[in-house]
This record gives sequence, structure tokens and C-alpha cells, in this order.
Amino acid sequence: MSVVVETLKHKVIEGFQTRFGKQPEYVIHAPGRVNLIGEHTDYSEGFVMPAAIDRGIAIAFSPREDATLQVFSLDFDELMSADLNALAKAASGWQEYIKGVAWVLQMQGHPLTGWDGVVAGDVPIGAGLSSSAALELAAARAFSIASGIEKSLTDLALVGQKAEGDWVGVRVGIMDQLISAVGRQGHAVQIDCRSLDYAYAPVPVGIGFIVLDTGTRRELAHSAYNTRREECETASAILGVSALRDASLEMLEAKKSELSETVYRRARHVITENERVAAFSEAMRTGNRRRMGELIDACHASLDQDYEVSSRELNIIAEISRRHPACLGARMTGAGFGGCALAVVETDKLEGFEEFVSSVYLAETGIEARIFRVEAGDGVRLL
Ligand code: GLA
Repeated sequence: MSVVVETLKHKVIEGFQTRFGKQPEYVIHAPGRVNLIGEHTDYSEGFVMPAAIDRGIAIAFSPREDATLQVFSLDFDELMSADLNALAKAASGWQEYIKGVAWVLQMQGHPLTGWDGVVAGDVPIGAGLSSSAALELAAARAFSIASGIEKSLTDLALVGQKAEGDWVGVRVGIMDQLISAVGRQGHAVQIDCRSLDYAYAPVPVGIGFIVLDTGTRRELAHSAYNTRREECETASAILGVSALRDASLEMLEAKKSELSETVYRRARHVITENERVAAFSEAMRTGNRRRMGELIDACHASLDQDYEVSSRELNIIAEISRRHPACLGARMTGAGFGGCALAVVETDKLEGFEEFVSSVYLAETGIEARIFRVEAGDGVRLL
């Protein structure tokens, strides 16, 4: 187990002891992720290539005899208590992801046993590293252990996705939940978001991932996300395909006059991005670092110009990173609108990278960035 995961594990165990005066019976860890390439393609049934990271969410818990759920969040210093037989939605908050997961499992016909738990995380929240999916997967595993439910990793991921779509109200694709479920140390995972088939791709030796948190978060990112999804649906309806995954640039050009300029550009992003995933996968397999970097930069440009989900700060921090010799490519990662960028780097040239990016970013924006290295880690597991 990595030191990072070990540290979080001890934190929730201690928190549990303080809160409940005994040892927890179980500890679950579910990872966040960085997405290497394939952004905003999952809900068009396309291709993605994320890696789970060694940071995420941990829950220490013990099952109860009744249907009461009591979870204390160390990050929010807040206790939630719910009767699993009478779940009610609130407007927002970390609790909704846990309640949403419980609700989906009940809808699927599983009677649920309650548990006492303590939750904590070490991924920045709402910053594009998939803190919500990590919480959903950790909760889904906790409920399945407490209630004796057998589910495959893919089915657990689908529970999390449905909780986020139907309970929390963000119509996310499957990428974040699936990578949090099936991630593997030292590997990225190429996922076909239609069949949900996935294949492990080893991260080449000497390549590292640096997260660049711009320190910005955007309100209303949820509704902007849902709007992007609707635009893709509009495009696929006009192109006569069931999802943009099935469209080509030739088909798009042929129907250009029927699409608004915005919808045209959204579709162009998705179509070219699916092509970039295939090219990136090949470049990674053959160790073509220069090509990997070019594709990451091209992905960023397309998200910025065609999909319009980047931000001034994301553009600046990616651009500064590219000036450093260690950087192969840099781009926003996750849904966008603020949050984190990812730099893919050559680890033997990293000297001075963090200082360089943070000082130039501070000078250009007045904002302190948080910069840290992540390792490709395992999916959800019982520690
Ligand atoms: C969020 C969603 C994912 C995916 C990304 C963009 O992280 O949860 O399903 O759509 O945005 O690629």
C-alpha cells in the first residue's frame, strides 16, 4: 500500500475511534483519477483513458443492527444521520452522494443495513479529480459489505453513476466511477464507454503525472455540464446517429448547415477527441513521448476552443507548464470550468518544475497553485 493511502487509512481509523469509541471493522479506499485523454467523450459513448491515482476517499465503518446510517466527515467536520427507510433529498452537500448510492441500491431491490462510519479524503473537492465518484464508490462498497450484496466492479460503478445522475442531478458519463472501480497501480485504463470493456495500459517508465490545481472553482459547473451533454444529443440527432461515437468528420461536414455554430464545434471536439484517444494509446504503447505530448496539448486546445470548458487560469497554468523541459504535454483534466490541469512529464527532468510553474502562475494570476505528483493507483478496495 502506498504511503499516501496508508496515511489516509490511519486518519479515518483514528477518526472512527474518536467518534465511536471503538475500532472500525472495515476500511475502504476508493481513488480519484486523472484523465490522460478522452475528455467529454464518455457520455457520447466514446473512448477515454484515465488512470486512478493514489489519492481518494477512505471510509472506516462498522455495520449496525438497524437501518440507521451515521457518517461523520472529517473534512467537513459534519455528521450526517439518515434513516435508510426514509431517505430524503437535500439541495447539495457531500451527504447526497452517499444517500444517492443507498437509494439506487434500494431501487435495485437490495434491502440495506445501516452502518457507522467516518469519511475523509485527500483529493481536492470539486476540482476535476473525481472526488464525487470516489465517494460514491467507497459508499457503494461499504453498503455492499454491510448488507451482503455481491456486485461486479462495473455494476458498482453503474450504481455510482446513477446516484449522481438521478439523485444529485448531474448527468455524468461512466468514466469516473469505472476508473475508481477498476484502476490498477502503474496503469492507465482505456475504456470503451459503450460496451464498458476496458484494457490496462502500463504507464511507460520515466513518465509521471503532476496535478496543477489552479485554485479556482466555478459555480454552476453542473448546469454547464448538463448543457454540453444536451448539445451532443442535439448533434447526434441531426447527424442521425445514436451517439456521437458513431459520427465522423465527413458526416459532420455534410450536415454543417443544419447545425448551429456551437453544436457544430461541440461535435467536432467529440469526434476528434475519440481519434486522439486511439492515437494516444498507440503512442503510449510504442513509447513515443513526443507524440503523447502533442496529443495532450491538442486535446486541451479542442476543449478550450471547440468545447469551451477551459478557463483563463487553466489555460495559463497549462501554458506555463509546457515551457518547462520536463513537460511532454499539459491540459485541463476532468469536467473543466476551473479546478485542475494535468502535466505529463519526464520524471528525470523534473527538477525545479513545481517552483517554476507556481511562481510564474502566481505572478500572472495572483493565485497560489497547489502542485503535487500523483501515482497511478488501484481501484476501490477493502484495506
Ligand atoms: C466529469 C464526469 C465524467 C466525464 C468528465 C469529462 O468528470 O463525471 O463522466 O464526462 O467530466 O470528460
